[in-house]
Amino acid sequence: MKLKGQHLLSVKDISLDLINELFIVADSMRPYATRQKVTRVLEGAVLGNMFFEPSTRTRVSFGCAFNLLGGEVRETTGLSNSALAKGESLYDTAQVLSGYSDIIAMRHPEAESVAEFALGSRVPVINGGDGPNEHPTQALLDLFTIQNELTSQGKTIQQLSLTLLGDLKHGRTVHSLCQLLALYNGLKIQLISPAELAMPTRYVDLLINAGHQVEIGTTLEQGLPQANIIYQTRIQEERFSSQEEANLYRGYFRLNKQIYAEHCQSNAVIMHPLPRDSRNEANELDNDLNAEPGLAIFRQTDNGILVRMALFACILGVEDQVTKHERNVNWYVGLNN
Ligand code: NCD
Repeated sequence: MKLKGQHLLSVKDISLDLINELFIVADSMRPYATRQKVTRVLEGAVLGNMFFEPSTRTRVSFGCAFNLLGGEVRETTGLSNSALAKGESLYDTAQVLSGYSDIIAMRHPEAESVAEFALGSRVPVINGGDGPNEHPTQALLDLFTIQNELTSQGKTIQQLSLTLLGDLKHGRTVHSLCQLLALYNGLKIQLISPAELAMPTRYVDLLINAGHQVEIGTTLEQGLPQANIIYQTRIQEERFSSQEEANLYRGYFRLNKQIYAEHCQSNAVIMHPLPRDSRNEANELDNDLNAEPGLAIFRQTDNGILVRMALFACILGVEDQVTKHERNVNWYVGLNN
């Protein structure tokens, strides 16, 4: 596959053919992700998991995905705990860490920093989020989830009517997702945000030029009724110049059971890259939606493992050898099956 030996820094390098191939590999990872089987295909390989910005699921799922393929994980978290805080350049850090790893996943607060890091790396680098810029693996797992959710409703991606909701200005997950969606055409996409937090024009233009029907709005009522998939996002408080400014938008769009029942299609799917801000003043996705079958947020996080396993297997060129290194598990496997 084209991914072998390559960096994954942006979704710009990804084609529709590659997505389709990758998603077939992701599907084949299910027995390992659900612990029916173990594979040791990456035994001896080392992932450098370098997270210089807060993360729970992205960091842990990169590590977990690598472990599930039999590889080992070395981690560093937080800028202040690393030599970057002593003035070391990204280039030098990359030269050093790539000597210790077969592949590196990295998150950093500055846009383009992961690409700069990759210039100094001797091994493939995966962008785990670079400031407000991109989050390619999240976009891939979001697209994988969108396809799966539509399939389970007997629909294809061509029937997608997607509403992106919230902080579309700073949200890197929606920036990357829009670029992937621009590979398709004729979809319905609603972009709903406070006016000041609108989707940057370059991504809107990309969607329009791809032939999508794009609507832009500022109220929930403009975005919810026509959507079969609603993608809520968090106000990205860490990207604002002050906490006071971020507070202006906290709680701007709140989804709960009552709003869902009143404004959404009966089987509308709700997605969110997570974390959802559950503090009272925000409560963007209420806990009273937890039992709603349309709430796909934890199917999304489970899918993150499949997609990241597929990426590791393809980038390291072992996607055809996974089953050769498998065996059944002999421990209690909980509810994963
Ligand atoms: C997102 C991120 O870090 O961009 N989280 C994630 O990786 N799943 C979204 C967010 O932090 O709001």
